[in-house]
Amino acid sequence: MKHAETARKKAFIRTYGCQMNVYDSERMSDLLIAEGYQLVEDGNDADLVILNTCHIREKAAEKVYSELGRLRINKAHSKAEGRDTIIAVAGCVAQAEGEEMLRRAPAVDLVFGPQVYHRLPQLLSRASAGERVVETEFPVEEKFDTLPKERHSLAAQRASAAFLTIQEGCDKFCTFCVVPYTRGAEFSRPVNVILDEAKQLVNTGVCEITLLGQNVNAYHGANDTGRDYQLADLLAALAEVDGVERLRYTTSHPRDMTPDLIAAHRDNSKLMPYLHLPIQSGSDKILDAMNRKHTAAEYVAIIEDLRAARPDIALSSDFIVGFPGETEDDFADTLRLVSKVGFAQAYSFKYSPRPGTPAADSELQIDEAIKAERLARLQALIGEQQAAFNRNSENTVFPVLLDREGRNPGQLAGRTPYLQAIQVEAPAELRGTIQQVRVDRAGPHSLFGSLDEMPAMPSAGDRGIQMAGASN
Ligand code: SAH
Ligand code: SF4
Ligand code: F3S
Repeated sequence: MKHAETARKKAFIRTYGCQMNVYDSERMSDLLIAEGYQLVEDGNDADLVILNTCHIREKAAEKVYSELGRLRINKAHSKAEGRDTIIAVAGCVAQAEGEEMLRRAPAVDLVFGPQVYHRLPQLLSRASAGERVVETEFPVEEKFDTLPKERHSLAAQRASAAFLTIQEGCDKFCTFCVVPYTRGAEFSRPVNVILDEAKQLVNTGVCEITLLGQNVNAYHGANDTGRDYQLADLLAALAEVDGVERLRYTTSHPRDMTPDLIAAHRDNSKLMPYLHLPIQSGSDKILDAMNRKHTAAEYVAIIEDLRAARPDIALSSDFIVGFPGETEDDFADTLRLVSKVGFAQAYSFKYSPRPGTPAADSELQIDEAIKAERLARLQALIGEQQAAFNRNSENTVFPVLLDREGRNPGQLAGRTPYLQAIQVEAPAELRGTIQQVRVDRAGPHSLFGSLDEMPAMPSAGDRGIQMAGASN
């Protein structure tokens, strides 16, 4: 018998990988909400489960297959209860595996890549009709043209910081990397649609926007008069959008770190003093083998220019240790570079041969034990630098965007301008506002602070975004 009111279907999305996947999962949520789904936090009784996967790490595909093995059991239970859960795999593993995924994972109904998720409603109706569907085309323009404008999923989360993808894909073909194959060629969205999306974000309560792209600083989009905008121009235009208080961008490539973008760190007051700029290795020989097309000295020169433009800029990077052919001397160059630059934080990984990439076929692969030992040394050095950077913040006052509930009652959590996570003693009403916060203590991964002065309380009817301590 049918219920008087049909219950809303439940969807569960699990996201792996980079911020671009986080953005994609949010946009899939928007589509699903428009289709009448309710997003849930537990996959066990969902009608639709989407794994939004990443292919960058060791055994990424194997991990997805074992997760699918577990989901197969849940699916059998759901059938017994009269529900037919649809299992979908999205993201970069889906793109890389394609048809193979249907062969290896009997529970999977739907496989689709990062550039076709806007077709989700049609794909789901085909899957519901019993078809096993694979969609791995790259209609990236069509995607951005057809996604819903409204960001219901962010509004539901009461988000005050959000991602906005402005650029997709990559043409750089670093020899270790799968991204150019899973995300396709570089594509920049037009300026006006980005400005519209930013306004939409402000309307849902967002005041901090992080622009995303695999090579975000290679951005070059046209505005409606046909003028070409580089990233610095786009950041300037976004800084003018009412309600946008803070801007960030990630991930950048050193080769696209142009003088005007460096100058934006001096001139654009909304741009936060933090930059994630991956270098991967401090050895020119390895950088060349990676096809990075720049030297360690060129990287250091960019850092010097950035620091001249914005002396307090905090820096972050990515490193790969044990790339094929890396000697102890090459690795020592990496340690030297880290010591020379001084990072606020950094990510480091053991090289992992990714199927289909040139470096995977090299005969100079490094022993796993050596990779592990080098990684430990590098992480110890980065850890010391991060701890020193955080200790330096003690007893300093920063404007902090309090964007989430804190760890404990009576706390809110946020980020300093330098992207440090901070737990702040603050009343719940201040969530979504920027407040002056004194850092009382620095832990290894998080800061702890308290409000520095009488908080600027959000007034009724206001979106709740105010700058405490601002001169106006
Ligand atoms: N577009 C960004 C990052 C892409 S992937 C850039 O150009 O920097 C994120 C990070 O994963 C890379 O910076 C790199 O450090 C790491 N990574 C990518 N492929 C890898 C591989 N095969 N093995 C180990 N680490 C890898
Ligand atoms: Fe991968 Fe290199 Fe492109 Fe970054 S620039 S996404 S590391 S190929
Ligand atoms: Fe992973 Fe794809 Fe992002 S491989 S890092 S999810 S672009």
